[in-house]
Amino acid sequence: MVDVARFISERVRTRPAYHVPSAAPAIKLDAMESPYALPMEVRDRWLHALRDVALHRYPAPEHYEHLKTRLARDAGLGPGLGVVLGNGSDEILQNIILATAADVTVIIPAPTFVMYEQIAAILGRRVVPVPLTADFQLDLPALRAALARHSPALLFLAYPNNPTGAIYPRDDVQALLAAEDAIVVVDEAYHPFAQQSFLPALAEHGRLWVVRTLSKQGLAGLRFGWMAADAAWTNEIEKVRLPYNVNSLTIASVEFALDYADVFAAQAERIRAERARLAQALAPLVTVWPSEANFLLFRPPVPADAGRIHAELRSRGILIKNLAASGGALAGCLRVTVGTPAENEAFLAALARAL
Ligand SMILES: Cc1ncc(COP(=O)(O)O)c(C=O)c1O
Repeated sequence: MVDVARFISERVRTRPAYHVPSAAPAIKLDAMESPYALPMEVRDRWLHALRDVALHRYPAPEHYEHLKTRLARDAGLGPGLGVVLGNGSDEILQNIILATAADVTVIIPAPTFVMYEQIAAILGRRVVPVPLTADFQLDLPALRAALARHSPALLFLAYPNNPTGAIYPRDDVQALLAAEDAIVVVDEAYHPFAQQSFLPALAEHGRLWVVRTLSKQGLAGLRFGWMAADAAWTNEIEKVRLPYNVNSLTIASVEFALDYADVFAAQAERIRAERARLAQALAPLVTVWPSEANFLLFRPPVPADAGRIHAELRSRGILIKNLAASGGALAGCLRVTVGTPAENEAFLAALARAL
C-alpha cells in the first residue's frame, strides 16, 4: 500500500508538476530556446575539447574555481564579489531560497517566471505576489509597501520579465534596491537579447544578487547558470549547493563556449533582428507587447480564441505557449519564442489562418 498522504508533504501533493510537453513538434517555439545549433566545425572542436574530460573522477574543485574566476573576469566583477555555479539557473534560484531564513518573505511581481513561486511554495516560504501595472511594469508604490510590510524580504525581478518580455526602467529597480530590509535578485536570463545588466551595480549595492544562465543564448541542454553577489552572501549559498552539482562535461563545455562568445553574440543579434520583424508582422493581427527578450507575448482580438489558436498551430506542427491557464492579466495570451526566419514565417502564416 502506497500511503502518499502520510509521507509526502501537503505542499508537494497539492501542486502540479512543472509540465514540459514531450512530443517534439516540427517547429518548437514554446520554451525560449535558441533556434540555432552551433556550426558543425565548432561542434567538432567542442567534441575534441570533451575528449580529455575525466569522467571517472568527480568534478575537481580547481575546475569550478577556474570557471568562476573566468566568469567574474568576463563580467568585470570587482573584488569582494563571489560567484556560485548552478545546474541551470533554476537550481541557483532553488539554492537562493534554500539558503535564506524561513521568515524571509518571497515577493514577486505578478505575472512573472513561475519557478520563483513554485520553489518558494514547495519549500514552505510565504510568497506575496504584487500585480504589475496594466502595461506590465512595476507598481512601485505597491512593491515598496509590500517590502515594508513583509520584511525581511527576497524580491525576485526577472529583467526582462518572462512571460511579458518587458524590461523595467533602471530607476525603478534602483528605487527597490533602496528598500531597507530586502534582498533584490535580478534574474538576467534574457540578457543576450536585452543587453542591459545590473552586474556593474553589484559594487554599490550590497543587497543586490544577479542571476545569469546560458540556456537562452543557445545552451539550454547544457544546464548551466550562475549568480554573483557580495562574497559574504555567495559563501553562504555555496553551503547549500550540492558538492558536484555541475558535471564535468558541463564545466568543460562552458569553458569552451566562453571561447566562442562571438558566435553566440552573433546568434543573439540575429534573434533580436527577427524579434523586431516578428513584432512588426504580428502588430496588425493581434495585440503584441514590446519585448526585450527572445519571445513575444500577444493576445488575439478575441481572447477566448487563444486555446483554439494554440491547438490549431499545434496540429500544424507549431508549438507555442498557451498562457490562458495563468489567468489574470495573462487571460487570452499566447507567447511565441523567436525562431529562425523560416520558422517565424511558418508561425505567422499558421496564425493568420487560425485567426
Ligand atoms: C526569468 C527566467 N529565469 C530563469 C529561467 C530558468 O533557466 P535555466 O534553468 O534554463 O537556466 C527561465 C527559463 O525560462 C526564466 O524565464
